Amino acid sequence: MTIAVSYGVGRHPFLTEQAKRLFIDGQWVEAASGKTFQTFNPSTGEALAMIAEGDGVDIDRAVSAARRALSGPWAKFKPFERQNLLLRLADLIDTHFDELAALDALDMGAPISRGREGRLRVVGMLRYYAGQATALHGETIENSLPGQFFSFTLKEPIGVVGAIIPWNGPLKSAIWKIGPALATGCTVVLKAAEEACLSPLRIAELCQEAGVPPGVVNVITGYGETAGAALAAHLDVDKVAFTGSHLTGQKIIQASAGNLKRLSLELGGKSPDIVFADADLDKAVPGAAMAVFANSGQVCSAGTRLFVEQPIYEEFTQRVATFGKALRVGNGSDPTTQIGPLVSAEQLDRVTGYMALGRREGARPLSGGERLTQGDLARGYFVAPTVFADVTDGMRIAQEEIFGPVISAIPFTDMDEVTQRANATPFGLGSGVWTRDVGKAHRMARSIRAGSVWVNCYQAMDPAVPFGGYKMSGYGREGGKQHVEEFLNVKTVWIRTD
Ligand code: NAI
Ligand code: MG
Repeated sequence: MTIAVSYGVGRHPFLTEQAKRLFIDGQWVEAASGKTFQTFNPSTGEALAMIAEGDGVDIDRAVSAARRALSGPWAKFKPFERQNLLLRLADLIDTHFDELAALDALDMGAPISRGREGRLRVVGMLRYYAGQATALHGETIENSLPGQFFSFTLKEPIGVVGAIIPWNGPLKSAIWKIGPALATGCTVVLKAAEEACLSPLRIAELCQEAGVPPGVVNVITGYGETAGAALAAHLDVDKVAFTGSHLTGQKIIQASAGNLKRLSLELGGKSPDIVFADADLDKAVPGAAMAVFANSGQVCSAGTRLFVEQPIYEEFTQRVATFGKALRVGNGSDPTTQIGPLVSAEQLDRVTGYMALGRREGARPLSGGERLTQGDLARGYFVAPTVFADVTDGMRIAQEEIFGPVISAIPFTDMDEVTQRANATPFGLGSGVWTRDVGKAHRMARSIRAGSVWVNCYQAMDPAVPFGGYKMSGYGREGGKQHVEEFLNVKTVWIRTD
């Protein structure tokens, strides 16, 4: 644990005892099976923590607790009390933010240097939801029925929410599910990703410290095929909020059929990032590079299909490659690291497999293209930021989500052509447009079929601004008012008044 000690986590209790527990009904309990599994620090390959292997039995206990909590003291929380609770939780997470970022760095390798932008997305998001708690309202609606009828709507919490989150941003993902649930008066059973359990467990502890009543937030660790599948299929869960791969998203849709539970699905993509020759290249080069290299490419909306207008294609792709080569790749817990490892040996195999595939398909590597093994890097799951040039639309590296720091750079010649090619994907999560021409920016923003279009920027996000997918990137929005609405049922009330 030398890294942990030098970066302030010390002998964190989650690295010793507590991580073996599940958080159910306000108590830390063993998994019913008594089983645990080992997690690893992807920066060093070292064993990190023993985690409780929750399964369907534990999910059942947690869902029962969440159901009971819906009619317990939680039901009596006034909106302003839920607001205060969320503000207390936000303050606690703010106070412990460095610790939480350090846990994510150990657990899944995210560089702690990314913390600053993370704070707005996490603490700012909770404060935004706190505001939403006192802004929920139904409507009175004029009707045309004969006689006197008064009709209005009430917004009610949807009930028990199953939250299933991935490992690529465990802290952010957990908060983006728990926040709207608390704002709306729902209860939650959160299933952490097996690769990254520590910050979700710590959040459970902070929820308790903030005064979240027992059973309102439950955190289960365990595998997707067992614990996750049980949560998705559970007949007493009213909604599943899922973030992860589209393949698992499809399984969740099938599993939801038993009780037709509501779903929101934030899935992956193969997002286009389009650079026109008139762009400010000094901004577009780092922008396009970090649109993929940030978090080692393990970002759902990464701009991995880099379309570059023909006249600047060679120069631009070379500059992005040079930018990538200069990034400091290293241990996620080292504050000077810009790019951490991939999360696991499995993801390393997958990403290096795609790198080899790109070469076989005839793409030309301008930078990277392989695992990094110099010095200490050999122990972890590191790959070099990679730019493949001469990529064509049909190559698999231009079509499939790689989830690694791999850019597929594709030349184009005009706006209509690039729009059609950018849209020729089953996904539609993010997209980027780099140009100095305002008219072109507006036309592109309307013609790209994706949930977000970033013009002369990439990955900008704010708690008040919705984020989510078109097409196979899923449905539902996170952030903004719509997110909160998705945790509510609309009830219509008719009152005869004559
Ligand atoms: P995954 O989508 O299988 O895992 C995400 C979450 O779903 C985890 O908590 C997992 O335990 C759970 N899960 C898995 N199978 C489940 C099931 N049958 N029922 C209910 N829950 C289940 O993603 P995984 O396996 O970690 O990564 C595989 C690939 O998926 C990655 O290489 C990447 O391409 C993609 N991915 C995309 C993400 C995104 O945000 N777009 C996030 C994570 C992975
Ligand atoms: Mg999986």
